[in-house]
Amino acid sequence: MKDSFGRNIDYLRISVTDRCNLRCVYCMPEEGVEPISHGDVLSYEETIRLARIFASLGIKDIRLTGGEPLVRKGIESLIADIKKMPGIETVSITTNGILIPEKFEMLKAAGLDAVNISLDTLNKEKFVKITRREGFEKVIEAIKLCEDQGIKTKVNCVAMRGVNDDEFASIASLALDHNICVRFIEYMPVGKNDFTKCVPTEEIKEKIEAVYGPLEKINSEGFGHGPAVYYKAEDFVGAIGFISAMTCAFCESCNRVRLTAEGFLKLCLQYDTGADLRGPLRAGATDEEIAKIIEAAVAQKPKQHTFNDYFGADDIDDRGMSKIGG
Ligand code: 5AD
Ligand code: SF4
Repeated sequence: MKDSFGRNIDYLRISVTDRCNLRCVYCMPEEGVEPISHGDVLSYEETIRLARIFASLGIKDIRLTGGEPLVRKGIESLIADIKKMPGIETVSITTNGILIPEKFEMLKAAGLDAVNISLDTLNKEKFVKITRREGFEKVIEAIKLCEDQGIKTKVNCVAMRGVNDDEFASIASLALDHNICVRFIEYMPVGKNDFTKCVPTEEIKEKIEAVYGPLEKINSEGFGHGPAVYYKAEDFVGAIGFISAMTCAFCESCNRVRLTAEGFLKLCLQYDTGADLRGPLRAGATDEEIAKIIEAAVAQKPKQHTFNDYFGADDIDDRGMSKIGG
């Protein structure tokens, strides 16, 4: 599926729930958000049908996100069903990792290819401050388990000034002895976030280089489909990546669209433009009709996000990240 700027759209992120077992400061308010009612969330049957239609349109890689995807009951059966679909090459999840240790065997048996685990600190007390919940040990266990068992593992760290900017080198060192990829994400002003907490990639990189020496840029093929740029430090088994969401326009190579838990096809992280697929689905539309709606929407995919200079515009999505899925 090509959009109007010639970008090949072959990657779909499906948010399977907006619920989460953590309350990360950059994602949710302390009291949580009003959850989407169960009837508004796509059932697995509906999700599978849409995934099949997307696959027939050229989507090859599917990532399940949330909220926290692993709090949705029976997620492993959804993974297994998507993994078996013709045209689908990889199924991955983005997770906070807390439930990985207890669900690991089921996830592996379902054919899960890769995980992105969020971890913003190596300090247990700070973890509680950032996520407003316990669970640090589980996340560390999850990272080790996935890497050990041959599931491609990335760690996502949101860089926040005054919160974890003293830890970038030590967080990066998770990739020293382990074949994982540690990625630093520039803090994005999604929802009502404080833009001044954003630490530019260049600064993160300098802090890591001050401890581990120069980072050499490496080919990002083999690291999946994302907007990250990857580097290797001397003697590191794993890699270090940067997602320069704010300072670098990676949009020209964007290959993704998103499906929210309510079945809304979202074209760009920043904008609320897209198409409702649940309505037609529940009204009895055929696969061909839904495919047409998807193609027409993808043709409207915005050229780029403009987090850096677009504050206050009225078509900006003000849903928090937990409703979008990252
Ligand atoms: N800015 C940058 N990254 C964010 N994430 C969630 N909210 C933000 C934000 N405001 C990250 C999570 C997760 C990924 C899906 O997005 O930490 O790793
Ligand atoms: Fe949950 Fe992820 Fe949001 Fe944290 S960032 S509250 S783990 S959905």
